Amino acid sequence: MKALITAGGRGTRLRPITHTNNKHFIPIANKPMIYYAIEAVAAAGIHDIGVVVNPETMGELEGAIGKGEQWGVKISLIVQEEPLGLAHVVKISQGFIKDDSFIFYLGDNIFVGGVNHFIQSFSNSQTDCHLVLSKVKDSHRFGVPEIKDGRIVSIEEKPSNPKSPFAVTGIYLYNRHIFEAVNAITPSPRGELEISDAHQYLIENGYTIDYSEVTGWWKDTGQPEDLLEANRFVLDQIIDRPDGLMVEGDVDAASELCGKVIIEKGAKVIQSQIRGPVIIGEGTVIENSYIGPYTSIYSDCYLKNIELEYSIIMEGCRIVDVDVRIEKSLLGREVTFSRGKSKPRTQKFIVGDESRIEL
Ligand code: TTP
Repeated sequence: MKALITAGGRGTRLRPITHTNNKHFIPIANKPMIYYAIEAVAAAGIHDIGVVVNPETMGELEGAIGKGEQWGVKISLIVQEEPLGLAHVVKISQGFIKDDSFIFYLGDNIFVGGVNHFIQSFSNSQTDCHLVLSKVKDSHRFGVPEIKDGRIVSIEEKPSNPKSPFAVTGIYLYNRHIFEAVNAITPSPRGELEISDAHQYLIENGYTIDYSEVTGWWKDTGQPEDLLEANRFVLDQIIDRPDGLMVEGDVDAASELCGKVIIEKGAKVIQSQIRGPVIIGEGTVIENSYIGPYTSIYSDCYLKNIELEYSIIMEGCRIVDVDVRIEKSLLGREVTFSRGKSKPRTQKFIVGDESRIEL
């Protein structure tokens, strides 16, 4: 069995972060999102992994994941010239997959609980396709199956009247018949080859599809609030020690840590209150500040005289002397917040396209 992981697409809902970053590199609990997908398939014993990427971020991806040596797997990069849909991703990967069965894993989905049992169910059932479903409140945002007598009888993409409370999540298992489907379907009104249309093709042409329900936790991180939620969940899981602390950096005697807290090596906490779950990355300095639950601060940041919680702060940010508590925020790399020194005391912004500020 092989694995195919997506790391392309447009990422429009995560702008402005995605103007300059591939969204699959946004850190969740200080680890690039794409690593979770690679680790999950590697842990399931899959060695041959294809990662689909867009041409603009190919170099960045290659630099970060290499050929997969750090996970003991072999990664092949597959370039998708244009983001023409998930079925298009499968279609252009036929040369890599050949006649093998494979797990198709959307790299912007976070699953906690691994993928072994889905692979096992697929192998045991000997069906042509296995879908992983999850009950959601807003199924109209996803591919939605219609289920009768325990069988999937149809699948619609983003229906206005969903026929079930289930969403098709970002894990799919296929044998070679999926290539017949992705080569037969035509683009949808939005111009994409839809994976739901490929599934519908399988159903209509007598192929077998079965499903299982997500057993652990799942989040499709398409929007900023989803990223914050995924970060919350992963941070909650990450430390499994009775005292909840993993401190490799320096914490002075005037600081207080409580709950699950990771301080990476080279980080410094001075006269501050850290209330976990929190992770503070290498070389980051926190001074005279409060850092509250569900916050991930990446490496080389400088935070002084601030209050911050439920946020993801990426590399090299500088946040100094901010009067109000910052929460539910996602800051890209090297963002600066500080108090101006000149009079009159006004608020000044240098903000990129499509940024969002709530005062
Ligand atoms: P989506 O979140 O559906 O699309 P997107 O990443 O372009 O984001 P947005 O809707 O905000 O513009 O993509 C799901 C996953 O599939 C994600 O990992 C990106 C990837 N993808 C591709 O690799 N190629 C594609 O053609 C598409 C549509 C998505």
